[in-house]
Amino acid sequence: MTRIYLDNAATTPLDPEVLEAILPFYTEHFGNPSSIHSHGREVRSAIEYARKSVAELLNATPGEIFFTSGGTEADNTLINCGIESNKLTHAITSKIEHHAVLHTLEVLEKKGKITLSYVNLDEKGHVDIDHLEYLLKSSPKSLISLMHGNNEIGNITDLQAIGSLAEEYDALFHSDTVQTIGHYPHNLKDLKVQGIAAAAHKFHGPKGAGFMYIKKGSAIEPFIHGGAQEREMRGGTENVTGIIGTAKALEIAYRDMNEHQRHVQGIKNRMIEKLRAAIPGVGFNGDCTNPDHSLYTVLNVCLPESEDNDMLLFTLDISGISASGGSACSSGATAGSHVLSALETDPNRGAVRFSFSKYTTEDEIDFTVEKLAEFYQVEA
Ligand SMILES: Cc1ncc(COP(=O)(O)O)c(C=O)c1O
Repeated sequence: MTRIYLDNAATTPLDPEVLEAILPFYTEHFGNPSSIHSHGREVRSAIEYARKSVAELLNATPGEIFFTSGGTEADNTLINCGIESNKLTHAITSKIEHHAVLHTLEVLEKKGKITLSYVNLDEKGHVDIDHLEYLLKSSPKSLISLMHGNNEIGNITDLQAIGSLAEEYDALFHSDTVQTIGHYPHNLKDLKVQGIAAAAHKFHGPKGAGFMYIKKGSAIEPFIHGGAQEREMRGGTENVTGIIGTAKALEIAYRDMNEHQRHVQGIKNRMIEKLRAAIPGVGFNGDCTNPDHSLYTVLNVCLPESEDNDMLLFTLDISGISASGGSACSSGATAGSHVLSALETDPNRGAVRFSFSKYTTEDEIDFTVEKLAEFYQVEA
């Protein structure tokens, strides 16, 4: 059975070009980049080349890029150190952030270090900018942590609008851009954000690698103490292959971005159309059908009510289709999607997140819709 992978928001397969770029750093270029002899120096120079390449693609400077173990570490560092270094006592976030953000802020709140406010969302899950301004008016000089692309429902946030408010109210703005780096162009020089987070495995790079951007002049002290690596911002011997792979994956992502965006948006549109034709009453969670405000990589489908919905992902899996999901938590249930719960979607309806990549084909979409139609016993 050929397997179909529609879970690219969870992770993407490594691009073979990335693998090729990484391999020599497992073998001949094995030196420790902190060593001053030639074995170390050649690796140090490859890391600095990678940093320069990442910075140029994002219109940042190399001094603003810090390699990390991925999105979670970047979010943790930016939030914890942003709050501590700037002596902030209040943070604003939303209920639909990734747990790398939500749990980090909740721990700080539990320890009594901050108070936490949640900005209102509209019925599609977009940030209510007026409410954000209201919160900032009563508590300027806060940390704002709001994501760029939502990993479950695909909503895209207007970072420039939030950044302008942050500037007006002297707030520190952090954005989790894990789902948009490598998929959309970013111009960090002009973006009014102090820190962003990226994970290479979301754009066909290696897992456990990524970076954070800290805008020049932002006071953010280190999170991981140790050696002088990453200009003393993150101690520990560098994940050399991860760093080389991150830079190569981003280079490829930018090189092919328009072509891939066109292909993947076409895949998403096809799935929307086919589902509408095949399954009466099908819906889409968040703002998935609005290409201007939704990731082209993510489609969160709201399926009919059925007693068998608990078996939906399992049934897809045994048909060879990997996807993920989870409905809103029903009362008393602990599992489920905190994002769909925050949007108050109907917990009795099935919810599956399909997420696509440059490798997804039309045939895979057609087969998946057929299997869904079979599950709900309708003719595809
Ligand atoms: C929006 C978002 N933020 C953060 C993360 C965490 O990234 P990582 O797995 O690289 O730590 C993810 C991964 O699923 C994500 O989708």
